[in-house]
Amino acid sequence: MDEYQTYYQLCVVSCVKEKRDLEIYIQSLEPLSLTVMPISVDRILIQALFFEEKRTPGLTDVSWTVLTEEMWNEPDVVLINGLVVQCPKTVFGHGKHPTTQLCQEILAGVSLEPTMHLVDVGTGSGVLSFLAWQSGVTSIEAIDIDPFAIEIARQNARDNAIAEEMFSVADLFDWQPQRKADVLIANLPIDILEKAFDRLRDWVALDGLMILSGLTTTWTAKLEALMISSATILKKEQVDEWVCYLLRRTV
Ligand SMILES: C[S@@+](CC[C@H](N)C(=O)[O-])C[C@H]1O[C@@H](n2cnc3c(N)ncnc32)[C@H](O)[C@@H]1O
Repeated sequence: MDEYQTYYQLCVVSCVKEKRDLEIYIQSLEPLSLTVMPISVDRILIQALFFEEKRTPGLTDVSWTVLTEEMWNEPDVVLINGLVVQCPKTVFGHGKHPTTQLCQEILAGVSLEPTMHLVDVGTGSGVLSFLAWQSGVTSIEAIDIDPFAIEIARQNARDNAIAEEMFSVADLFDWQPQRKADVLIANLPIDILEKAFDRLRDWVALDGLMILSGLTTTWTAKLEALMISSATILKKEQVDEWVCYLLRRTV
């Protein structure tokens, strides 16, 4: 990535499997203002300019999701717990990724009450907020830095008769919840989790719960060292290399 005046420019050459996939790729990336140019039958060049001011600190100057073949093959509309959820390829949250499944499992074991306030950071398609809503929690603030993800989350909410106002576009480093969370869920890339840990913890009420997902086993020791100064680790669940924590804020 080269710095160009006040912008960053990203160029990616990506392989696609067949002409049909190429067309889907182009259709799904264009709403994100990415320029997608076919350069051969099976390769495309994706170009984007990013405002320096808007970048997320750290490694993720650009939030970038690499799709595995399995994710690529997921349908764009999935059924999650009886809800019909649209999830185009560039929006994370079809419910089957281990980081999401671990959050789901841990959330299912939490005693949610209708009076609780829940904050969902990096909501993607909205999947985890929808599951909390189904358990009776209606006071939810869910954010994502990606405007297209929020557009999809709102559409999903409307399609399933769920309040769409809970979803807003925001960078977690520039945002504050309206009230302290009884439960906070954050399934985020590891470098963001590490940088944002103190900030996320401060959004949680004393004795409130945090579900943190998105890190792999390589990072657990580093993250646990951060966690234990202000939280108790209640659960640590793992699928493959992915680890998810349930924490209680103590100070
Ligand atoms: C791993 S996905 C999780 C999606 C969904 N919550 C799930 O569990 O399936 C992480 C999401 O965090 C969002 N994100 C990344 N950086 C962010 C930031 N600084 N502020 C808010 N959202 C961010 C991404 O756009 C992406 O949708």
